[in-house]
Amino acid sequence: MDLGQVFTSPIVARYMVSLLNVSKSSSILDPCFGNGAFINACLDEGYTNITGYEIDNHLYNSVKQVQPRLKLYNSDYLQADEAKKFDAILMNPPYIRHEKIDELSYIGISKKTLRLNPIFLELPTTANMYMYFIIKALQMLNIDGNLVVIFPSSWLNARSGKSFEQLISKQATIEKQIHISGEVFQKSALVDVVILCIKKTIEKSDREIIHLNLSDDVITPRIIQRSTKKLIATPVPFHIYANVRRGLTTGANDIFINPPLKHNNEYLISIVSSPKSIIGFSTTAAITDHLLWLHGEKKKFPKSVQEYLSQCKKMIISTQKPKTLYLKIQQHYSWYELSDIDSDGILFSYFVRNDMKFIMNTTNVLARDNFYIIKPQIDRHLLFALLNNYYTFYQLERMGKKYGAGLLKLQRYDIEKILFPDIASISSSDKEHLINLSKHMIDNNEDMIAQITLIISRYMNCNYKEICEDYALIKQQRLEDK
Ligand SMILES: C[S@@+](CC[C@H](N)C(=O)[O-])C[C@H]1O[C@@H](n2cnc3c(N)ncnc32)[C@H](O)[C@@H]1O
Repeated sequence: MDLGQVFTSPIVARYMVSLLNVSKSSSILDPCFGNGAFINACLDEGYTNITGYEIDNHLYNSVKQVQPRLKLYNSDYLQADEAKKFDAILMNPPYIRHEKIDELSYIGISKKTLRLNPIFLELPTTANMYMYFIIKALQMLNIDGNLVVIFPSSWLNARSGKSFEQLISKQATIEKQIHISGEVFQKSALVDVVILCIKKTIEKSDREIIHLNLSDDVITPRIIQRSTKKLIATPVPFHIYANVRRGLTTGANDIFINPPLKHNNEYLISIVSSPKSIIGFSTTAAITDHLLWLHGEKKKFPKSVQEYLSQCKKMIISTQKPKTLYLKIQQHYSWYELSDIDSDGILFSYFVRNDMKFIMNTTNVLARDNFYIIKPQIDRHLLFALLNNYYTFYQLERMGKKYGAGLLKLQRYDIEKILFPDIASISSSDKEHLINLSKHMIDNNEDMIAQITLIISRYMNCNYKEICEDYALIKQQRLEDK
């Protein structure tokens, strides 16, 4: 007989108990306690109000003998009285395929008997046994109670998985989805498993996705190192579709940016200095600074400008700083002349703080050296889409240098290492779709990155779900690296 007996290792049981967000006096249930991994972990953590069910006589007796005072039942949990409610439930439910459920009819369990209970009616007929356990557990949770459940993650990719998730979401919210690899179960083949932290509430919250690895009894965050080759089928190097340069460096921002020369507008031009001043995905609504823009002999400029330049020059000579301007003065150059930088193209921030984004320079505004300027060699909207997607972001997250406080610094050669999918392999309708999504993003400041990624995923080796997860993980690791 198959009762789905796969036992949780003590370290994982302890980790799952640590995910409970309830007081030590709370009532805790393990609906199928096996050899008591969760019971032991709960007792170790100071929880005492513990109830458990286990259908297997032998397992029940061995745990009951050691813990005679706990409320342990040697019975079928699926028949348990649903009027009993608990503050928290910890569970590793039996994994039994639907075709095998009827083989348990000799102990009173069959699909037919299960479906006599109205709470199971919405489950698909192909539901695995663990789905019945989860639905039943949700039924027996107090409002705001926690269910922490571990089970194989294969359902996440299955079609029935979506409807199962929707069923959970009707009465609860999945707060955490923790993927854990390694020796999670005792004496078992390695399977991909997931731990869900579910709260019984109708208030929805954002789901945190975490990836962990268990080895040598230590749980650590998993770092995904997916090689770019595994990402892209036929990679095309950056320089085929674009080139990149840094924005304008003044050498002395105090002197050149927003100088106290408000009445000399003809000598001030707009410059975009910081990614923070850009709203959305274009420069259309960017807040710009004034840059002192002087060319020619000093004596041509108005008196106020000349005075300002003299003051600055004096300061540069006395401090010998900044060095580049000091040297220019020594060599009798027009030290105040800055060379023009063609900023037309796509802008990208030198430092990334939270989310990455490439920005279309719709206003052709001059960009400071806090930005890179990317010049398209192909349709600019198509390039915009090839840049604004998780495949490119993932590559940049891997290449950039972590700077602490969640900062990521990207050098020009990092950008030049980006690999793109071959646009010749992209169908014309997909190209058109990508271009339209880019235009929509630019014109409406609306994030279309997921949609762009989904289209591009058709031409990649790693699928949409994988890249979303990997990117979320690598980004989360950077943000947590404080
Ligand atoms: C996957 S094991 C997990 C055991 C333990 N909670 C752990 O994590 O190590 C599932 C357990 O459920 C028990 N079981 C299966 N069907 C059951 C039912 N209808 N009611 C109660 N226990 C059941 C099995 O005997 C098995 O011990």
